[in-house]
Amino acid sequence: MENPVNDIIILLCKGIAHRRLYFSGHPKVRNYASSFVARLQEYFRASRRKEFFIGVVDGHFIFDGQRLFGPTVVGRQLIAFMELLRSGGISFDEKVTVDAVSRLMDLVDSQKTRLDSLADARELFRKNGIDTISLAGHYDQQPSVGRGDGKKPWEGEETGGFLQSPTLIYQAVFDVVTRAHGDAAGDRELDIDSARSVSEFMLRFTQTNFADVMQYIHYPDYDSYTVGHSVRVSSLAVYMGMQLSWPEEEIMSLATAAILHDVGKSKIDAEILYKTDALTTEEYRLIQNHPRLGAELLLAQKDATAIDVAASWGHHQRHDGRGYPSRPAWLQPSPVIDLLQIIDVFEALTAVRPYKIALTPQQAFSIMINDHGAFDPALLALFISRIGIYPPGTYVQLSNGAIAMVHAIGNRLDRPRLRIVKTESGAVLGKDQQRELDLGRIAPESLYITRLLLSYLEE
Ligand SMILES: [Fe+2]
Ligand SMILES: [Fe+2]
Repeated sequence: MENPVNDIIILLCKGIAHRRLYFSGHPKVRNYASSFVARLQEYFRASRRKEFFIGVVDGHFIFDGQRLFGPTVVGRQLIAFMELLRSGGISFDEKVTVDAVSRLMDLVDSQKTRLDSLADARELFRKNGIDTISLAGHYDQQPSVGRGDGKKPWEGEETGGFLQSPTLIYQAVFDVVTRAHGDAAGDRELDIDSARSVSEFMLRFTQTNFADVMQYIHYPDYDSYTVGHSVRVSSLAVYMGMQLSWPEEEIMSLATAAILHDVGKSKIDAEILYKTDALTTEEYRLIQNHPRLGAELLLAQKDATAIDVAASWGHHQRHDGRGYPSRPAWLQPSPVIDLLQIIDVFEALTAVRPYKIALTPQQAFSIMINDHGAFDPALLALFISRIGIYPPGTYVQLSNGAIAMVHAIGNRLDRPRLRIVKTESGAVLGKDQQRELDLGRIAPESLYITRLLLSYLEE
């Protein structure tokens, strides 16, 4: 699978991303810090090294002279932090503690200004009680994979296996959404350029491997569901844009708007947003204001497009003109908004939330069809036909006991193309052993789907 060094750095970066979204003592943040330390410990034992050094050169992570692509994409917060501290590398020694890592995560979140010197940065570490972690000056070794062309890590030739990894793509989108929400909450400027880059990246990957990305759409993610929701909405948006044969430029605009569509929620009190009991009228009114808050916030960003603003304002509006907030005169009908309205509701109905279990796609379709006037009917019909009862990326059980991942929709909604991941005799198949199976070509009575598995993931 992925290389252990990448995994270790990604754990740290995920912790930092969650730290920005939640508070310091949040169990999720704490979990990342302790998993990171546990994995580091394993690394020290296996490698017999006494320190773990990550360099930063030209906005990329370097490890043992190699540029790391995946971690670089998900670790922009840490890279920016290192730049503020005028440091070219960070080193964890073998005695590193969960507390020291947690304090480092706090500092990454709170540090906003560039320091004058590395000496000041080291003093800052000392004052914050961050021992067992030290800062290096400029990285002096020339990295072996050069990319001095100013391109994004995912552009051009691929050397880090990043394009082969749906986990990392999911994580990169997750990171961008997390940062957008964190920056919006803290009144910082949003990095819309990153959202656009990651959309392009998602599109490139989805062109060949969409089922692999889509499988994460169904992965339950209880703690970060506002972010998870936007990630899943944007993945579905890319998939649908491709199914509708939209030009690439438009798919990227759609995906970027999808990434940002709920950014207004970051301005709403978390206690109201995550409340599991019934909302009061006043609380309901506050929540219903998030499209407007998001649109206003995006309007103030220099890199946001008119589509980003319109999608935020319009994503809870209905096709029949109802919905919330009321439609302003400037908001023109747009296929991007029409599609987002559908995907937003479909995702909300099929996702696992703290207060409810997921509905199957079929149950969600039936609710959506019966909600007369809510959606553009032609687009909803198309959406249903392209998602199917068993959407790409979902896992199903077959009548012979085998488990398969839906690889692509077929000609019939209930007979998709599959990839067998576990045989009828219980053998788990690796990706290169998985057979393709087109249910549409098999007699329905000899093999059929018995069950949709909502949370099966091979890893
Ligand atoms: Fe929303
Ligand atoms: Fe939403």
